[in-house]
Amino acid sequence: MIRVGLIGYGNMGRSHGQLLLKHEDVKLLAVADAREERRAMAASELGVQKTYADGADMITEGDFDVVFVCAPTYLHKPFAIQALEKGCHVFCEKPMSLNVDCCREMAEAAEKSGKNFMIGQVLRFWDEYVYLKKAIDEKMFGELRALSMTRIGGVSVGYEGWFLDEERGGMQIFDRHIHDTDAILWMLGTPKAVLSHGVSYDNRTQGGIFHNFTQYLYDGNIIVSAEGSADTPQGFPFTASYRAFFENGLLEFNSRNKPALLVYKGGAPEEVDLSSSLAELKSGLNITTAGPYFNEQAYFFDCIRKGVKPTTVTAATAMETIRVVKAEIESVRSGKAVAL
Ligand SMILES: NC(=O)c1ccc[n+]([C@@H]2O[C@H](COP(=O)([O-])OP(=O)(O)OC[C@H]3O[C@@H](n4cnc5c(N)ncnc54)[C@H](O)[C@@H]3O)[C@@H](O)[C@H]2O)c1
Repeated sequence: MIRVGLIGYGNMGRSHGQLLLKHEDVKLLAVADAREERRAMAASELGVQKTYADGADMITEGDFDVVFVCAPTYLHKPFAIQALEKGCHVFCEKPMSLNVDCCREMAEAAEKSGKNFMIGQVLRFWDEYVYLKKAIDEKMFGELRALSMTRIGGVSVGYEGWFLDEERGGMQIFDRHIHDTDAILWMLGTPKAVLSHGVSYDNRTQGGIFHNFTQYLYDGNIIVSAEGSADTPQGFPFTASYRAFFENGLLEFNSRNKPALLVYKGGAPEEVDLSSSLAELKSGLNITTAGPYFNEQAYFFDCIRKGVKPTTVTAATAMETIRVVKAEIESVRSGKAVAL
C-alpha cells in the first residue's frame, strides 16, 4: 500500500483527493489545509482519519510514502523540500515554483533524496495533447507548419487572493497559460525567443497580466502562438483548444465540442481514436475515461511501483517551463522579444 498525505484542500487538492481514492493500492491517510471548513470537507468527503492546519506539521508528524503538494504556489518549495528531506516521494502541482532559483533548490533536494519528484504539468497526460505530440513526432500528417493554442476562462482568486498576487504566484500568464507553454516545450523544444503581449484590466493585481498572446519563435518554417486569459465574463465556459496545421491535414481540438478532436484531410472531418494514447498505464480504471488528472497520478504511482524516475515530466523540464514563462512576462513588460 502506498501511503499518501495531501497538502491543500482547495480546488485542486479536492480534485486530487477524490482521484487518490480510486487507485487500488493507494491509501490517503491525512489532509492538511489552513481553513477549518476545508479540513471538515476533506474529512467527510474522503474519510481521512487525520487532518492538520498546516502542511509542515503534517509532514513532520505523519508517516507517508508520498506527499501531494496542492497548496498555493508560494508554498510549493518549502513543502516539497521538507517532504523530500523526510524521505517521501513528492507530487507537486504546477507551476513548480515562483522562479528558476527556487526550482533549482527543489530539483537539488529531489536529487539528493533519491526520491521521485513530479510536477503536475497535466497536458502531458491529456489524451488530445498526447495525440498531438504523437502526430508531430511521427509526422502522421507530414510536417507541422503552424500551431495555435488557447486556454481561456474566468478569473481565479483562491485562498486569500493569492492568484492575483505576483509575489505569491498568481497572475493567469504564470498560472494558467503556463500549461500551453509547457505543452509547446514538450512538443517542440525551447524556442529561440518569445514575443509576448499582455494586458490587465483588474486593478487588484497592480499590473498583473490577465490576458496574453505569445509567439514562440523557432528556426525554420513553423509559426507557433498561444493565447491565455482570465478575462472572460461569467457564463463563458472555460475553453482549452488548439489548431495544428500540417502539410497533409489539420487537427482541431476544442474542449467545448463533442467530439473534441477532429482531423481535416480534405473530405469530411474525421474523429480521432484516442483509446491507445496512454494505454500502457496500469491504473485499475479505464484510462480513456479516467481523465488527465487521474492519468498523471497513475503514471506517478506506476513509476514508484516500478522503482523508476518519471520521465514524462522531470524537475528539469518543469524548471525550463518556468524560465520560458518568466521570459514571456519580461517580453510583455519590455515590449520586446526575449531570447532564450
Ligand atoms: N493542474 C491544474 O490544472 C491546476 C488547476 C488549478 C490549480 N492548480 C495549482 O494547484 C495549486 C493550488 O491551487 P488551488 O486552485 O487549489 O488554490 P486554492 O486557493 O483553491 O487552494 C489552496 C488551499 O491551500 C490551503 N493552504 C494555504 N496555506 C496552507 C498551509 N500552510 N498548509 C496547508 N494548506 C494551506 C488553503 O486553505 C486552500 O484551501 C496551485 O499551485 C495552482 O497553480 C493546478
